[in-house]
Amino acid sequence: MNQQTILVTGGAGYIGSHACIELLQAGFNVVVVDNLCNSKTEALSRVQQITDKTLTFYQHDIRDKAALADIFAKEAISSVMHFAGLKAVGESCEKPALYYHNNVYGTLVLTEVMAEANVKQLVFSSSATVYGECGCTQYAENFPLGPINPYGRSKAMVEDILRDLSAADTINQAKSPWKIALLRYFNPIGAHESGLIGEDPNGIPNNLLPYIAQVAIGKLTQLSVFGNDYPTPDGTGIRDYIHVVDLVKGHIKAIATLEGDAFGPGGCKAYNLGTGRGYSVLEIIDTFQKVTGQAINYKIAPRRAGDLAECFANPELALKELDWQAEKNLADMVADTWNWQTKNPQGYMQ
Ligand code: NAD
Ligand code: WQD
Repeated sequence: MNQQTILVTGGAGYIGSHACIELLQAGFNVVVVDNLCNSKTEALSRVQQITDKTLTFYQHDIRDKAALADIFAKEAISSVMHFAGLKAVGESCEKPALYYHNNVYGTLVLTEVMAEANVKQLVFSSSATVYGECGCTQYAENFPLGPINPYGRSKAMVEDILRDLSAADTINQAKSPWKIALLRYFNPIGAHESGLIGEDPNGIPNNLLPYIAQVAIGKLTQLSVFGNDYPTPDGTGIRDYIHVVDLVKGHIKAIATLEGDAFGPGGCKAYNLGTGRGYSVLEIIDTFQKVTGQAINYKIAPRRAGDLAECFANPELALKELDWQAEKNLADMVADTWNWQTKNPQGYMQ
């Protein structure tokens, strides 16, 4: 059994809670820090129920340096999975300073505390949204970056900071250099197969799958399909949807890779986490209807500002260097989304 302790920032959130399950099941000790600004402790109770294991929870903001340092003093942390952050693109345009403060400054505080505690292994939640428009549809890690909203820029800034911290170790000939994996997620969807944990968005969802699920269960009346005049086979937007459980398995592989010889003594590398295959909005609706037997009421609406026609991952580097690839298909993703939605129509609010 692996008795290493992993600090999971944002561990009460959608992806972080799924990561806690995988970590506990793989035999790691798990310490969560979360300020609960977009989550509930019920998610952590359910993580413990699913795994029949316990984790340690600290309710703090990662920008609270003293509180964070105290966690590192108390717990024998070996690596950090850093999920804590704000993620709503629209809100980031209205409140950019909030996003930079939370996502960028929050990561600066975290890395300062980590360096002071000499814990220098980090897996960071980045996003495919850091890529710039390049006229292409399939994105590889070496493609140019060029995010188009404050949320995306906050992720790109953090990536820059982490690359710089790593580069400085080379200049300074650091004895224990940073080992950092920047994981660029495509479109995470789905839920744990138990149906006990899943995505619990506040208010009306922005993302496609939670919206469809709420239409199917009758909380929302109609889905708007944003544009059917894109240069794609059926005219609707194409994305690379990835099951959240596959996604978090990529994080476990990343921790193992950082610790392995192949990664070298230190460094900071980006990896796409996607399936490498895209589906259109109409294909998603069709699959949802077939898998769940629920009719989805939808209409064609104008394009949404900032949306690309098509975006999917080149996932080859993650396969080669992390020994990871997605295993679940779209029907699994939809079935698990629906299982979570039907078992928890009000999310974590009972
Ligand atoms: P989420 O909102 O469900 O989880 C984020 C968690 O971080 C929440 O529990 C929230 O309370 C916590 N948090 C936020 N700011 C904090 C702070 N300052 N201190 C302590 N805790 C804080 O989001 P998620 O979907 O689980 O996303 C996790 C990470 O993955 C985020 O960094 C997000 O930007 C990134 N990401 C998400 C997606 C996606 O589509 N869900 C895609 C790409 C990248
Ligand atoms: C998917 C497709 C929409 C809603 C966003 C963020 C990105 C990342 C993942 C964090 C698109 C269409 C959607 C609806 C629709 N998050 N759609 N009607 O935009 O690819 O990515 O989430 O890093 O940063 O931008 O995901 O789920 O919003 O949209 O037609 O009501 O569904 O136009 O083609 P997106 P999404």
